[in-house]
Amino acid sequence: MANVLLILALLLLFTGSIIIVVLGIIGTYLIIAGKFMRFSPPVPSSGKVKKKMLAHAVQYLEKHQNLTITDLGSGWGTLLLPLAQNFPNHRFIGYELAKLPYYTSKLRALKLQNIQVKRLDFFNADFSGIDVIFCFLLPSAMQQCYDKILPKLKKGTIIYANRFPLPNIEPNEIVSLDSDYETFYVYKI
Ligand SMILES: C[S@@+](CC[C@H](N)C(=O)[O-])C[C@H]1O[C@@H](n2cnc3c(N)ncnc32)[C@H](O)[C@@H]1O
Repeated sequence: MANVLLILALLLLFTGSIIIVVLGIIGTYLIIAGKFMRFSPPVPSSGKVKKKMLAHAVQYLEKHQNLTITDLGSGWGTLLLPLAQNFPNHRFIGYELAKLPYYTSKLRALKLQNIQVKRLDFFNADFSGIDVIFCFLLPSAMQQCYDKILPKLKKGTIIYANRFPLPNIEPNEIVSLDSDYETFYVYKI
């Protein structure tokens, strides 16, 4: 009996250590990425923030017709794919540069008529008809979005910024869940 308990305790210790090491590596990567990387890593919006941000957007999408919605750096299609599936009357465009998330989301989008995934630097995209924007980008990219994209947006465009806000402009809403890492910002231009 004592042996079984010892083995169980060792197993728990081993599993716990592995989980702590993996979380540590991911956390360190995100912190370093946030400070030094030029491009945001393809980390998807997740957990409560993803759920709450999508629910917020759904309310807006339900009240409007024929919107064009884009995700600047659409990653694996985490945000656009479920929305495109539920809103066949709206149009969705994802811009993604990283190969693996791009091809994966492109493949997943094949079954839907109302979504396009483009392998394009979103700074070169056409913003004239865009109604709703999602972004989950590093602070340096948010600064560039403010400088280069904001002047191209039409009045009334809604922006959802996950985790990192746009500089120099007050959000209309800040939705903060459990921590700074679980906050998104809503802007109406
Ligand atoms: C943190 S991920 C967010 C993915 C997705 N928007 C989400 O919320 O789940 C940011 C993504 O933006 C992409 N990205 C960064 N800069 C880009 C650019 N200038 N043009 C296109 N994609 C870009 C990265 O490759 C990465 O996949």
